[in-house]
Amino acid sequence: MNNVLLGVNIDHVATLRQARGIRYPDPVQAALLSEEGGADGITVHLREDRRHIQERDILILQSMINTRLNLEMAPTDAMLAFALRTKPEHCCIVPENREELTTEGGLDVVSNQAKLLRFCQNLQCNDTQVSLFIDPDSQQISAARDCGAYAIELHTGQYAEAKTIKKQQDELDKLQSSIEYAKNLGLIVNAGHGLNYHNVEPIAAFTGLNELNIGHAIIARAVFTGIKCAVSEMKSLIRQSFASS
Ligand code: PXP
Repeated sequence: MNNVLLGVNIDHVATLRQARGIRYPDPVQAALLSEEGGADGITVHLREDRRHIQERDILILQSMINTRLNLEMAPTDAMLAFALRTKPEHCCIVPENREELTTEGGLDVVSNQAKLLRFCQNLQCNDTQVSLFIDPDSQQISAARDCGAYAIELHTGQYAEAKTIKKQQDELDKLQSSIEYAKNLGLIVNAGHGLNYHNVEPIAAFTGLNELNIGHAIIARAVFTGIKCAVSEMKSLIRQSFASS
């Protein structure tokens, strides 16, 4: 049996809520249902522009979920202060650009080692385990270890976006050798980004992987697995109200 854990990223439930500026759909409810479905952890990205997840979501998630919270955040002092105050079980530090649609690449740990060392030390002394989101590159992995990070999360975006079988295989090879390299350095290895129902299996089959973080594909699938039931509930409400008038 495969023991790779699944962290479910519920950001895009909040994206839908924010599109209307009202109370639903609530990502907290999505988190509880994800746990019922077998999620081993709940992941949220508190972005600087607050485009989806809000501080309120994190506080409520912490008091409601039964698994563990993984807070993705940019390496800014404001986010560090928030994480020190709220103490999530895990923090994954990610690069963030205001204009991007999603996290585009891994952190450059090599060039930002002093800063990331400070983030790892501060958070880990405060009982939050830190992972650094990086590309599958041995220099970045070594630098993450030198920062004292508990874990790394390997960016699977290049694999997910590969247009040819050859490119896809090259990216798989890179990921496999990065997992081995990081494990030999004593790091816990997670992976994620762009994984979906068509491309997850070769990644999940790697030995040495601790957890996959998957968001967009699961939330998108949930729309289609749920739409028939949602329409029939609305239809029966409409029918009933006609019958009783
Ligand atoms: N892991 C990290 C560090 C991310 O930033 C994201 C996107 O927020 C994911 C995993 C999930 O990516 P996706 O939504 O493409 O599954």
